[in-house]
Amino acid sequence: MRCACVMLLSALFSLSDGDVGDFTPCSSAFYRGLPPTGIVGTPICQRYQNRYHFATLYSRERRAPWFSAYVFSKPQNKRPRGEWKFEPQLANSKADGNMMPFPVPPAKLDQNVVESQAVQKDYINSTYTRGHLNPSQHHSNTTSRRATFTLTNVVPQKAESNDGPWAMLETNVSKILQEHCQGEAFIVTGMIPYEKERWMKDEGRVAIPEYMWSAYCCQNYSRDLPENLKDIFPTFAAIGRNDPNSTQEIVPVDPQTKKKTKGYDVRLMPLPILEGYLKQRYMVSISVFDQMCSRA
Ligand SMILES: *[C@@H]1O[C@H](CO)[C@@H](O)[C@H](O)[C@H]1NC(C)=O
Ligand SMILES: *[C@@H]1O[C@H](CO)[C@@H](O)[C@H](O)[C@H]1NC(C)=O
Ligand SMILES: *[C@@H]1O[C@H](CO)[C@@H](O)[C@H](O)[C@H]1NC(C)=O
Ligand SMILES: *[C@@H]1O[C@H](CO)[C@@H](O)[C@H](O)[C@H]1NC(C)=O
Ligand SMILES: *[C@@H]1O[C@H](CO)[C@@H](O)[C@H](O)[C@H]1NC(C)=O
Repeated sequence: MRCACVMLLSALFSLSDGDVGDFTPCSSAFYRGLPPTGIVGTPICQRYQNRYHFATLYSRERRAPWFSAYVFSKPQNKRPRGEWKFEPQLANSKADGNMMPFPVPPAKLDQNVVESQAVQKDYINSTYTRGHLNPSQHHSNTTSRRATFTLTNVVPQKAESNDGPWAMLETNVSKILQEHCQGEAFIVTGMIPYEKERWMKDEGRVAIPEYMWSAYCCQNYSRDLPENLKDIFPTFAAIGRNDPNSTQEIVPVDPQTKKKTKGYDVRLMPLPILEGYLKQRYMVSISVFDQMCSRA
């Protein structure tokens, strides 16, 4: 156990990416304009068709995001066909700031892009799906929906979680916010690494999350909330399993669930409980929302 912790610690220390990016242009993606504190990585203001749509803290070493942050809006229309994109500025800081679609073969992707981030090939033939942190279904604007289809917003997620309990969580949160949130709802969704990193296809390129987490903050909500919903405003959170073999401590397995999704449970929890688990694994205090989204 100690060995695993030391390895994670050394991994985290080497993750500091310097000051490549800057969240300033997309600070409106964060509650009170303030990004979560504690996790170190490369900020990406996710720009698509010359507009900022959301914000991502990226880990260059893991070639995957730590978290994405966005403002929820009522979903409309059908889910767009996903055209997967990459972030040119991770390969070259002078490149265009808009995310770009992967070239269609035989056109080749620049090797600097392949080295700087996850690419389509990483997910092909792997046992993991492309799990959105910021899901397309939490947006009304078609362009914003398309903007979520960038691999810098994606972690390796088991299909059983991605199409199962985690999708249910996204649907439930959407319903709750549409029914009871009357102002802006800020959402941050991220991942929790294994104590000792695991990599897709053992290639040492893209690191696999052991858990997914998510939290929302809505300050302006209905006053006449039903009794059973009083505890989930202004803020609430969840952690979801991405590995049926994980221990039961953080998210217990419900033995009753049907075989297909067994071991991919999602546990709902108050924000301070989530932050406790994040602190335990990241070994640093993490604040997701300024002052825990408490009322002013
Ligand atoms: C995926 O697997 C198929 C069949 O084994 C193989 O032909 C193909 O080259 C693989 N693609 C990648 C990107 O690994
Ligand atoms: C999305 O938002 C942009 C900028 O506000 C706007 O120009 C565009 O028309 C919107 N698209 C849809 C489908 O509403
Ligand atoms: C989502 O809501 C359904 C219906 O209320 C409930 O059965 C399910 O446990 C919820 N799942 C999550 C992950 O919130
Ligand atoms: C909360 O939302 C309601 C309905 O949209 C609006 O009338 C009110 O001004 C908002 N209050 C605050 C403090 O944002
Ligand atoms: C869980 O453990 C079993 C048995 O060791 C193994 O076959 C399986 O691949 C593991 N699942 C994951 C998601 O690691």
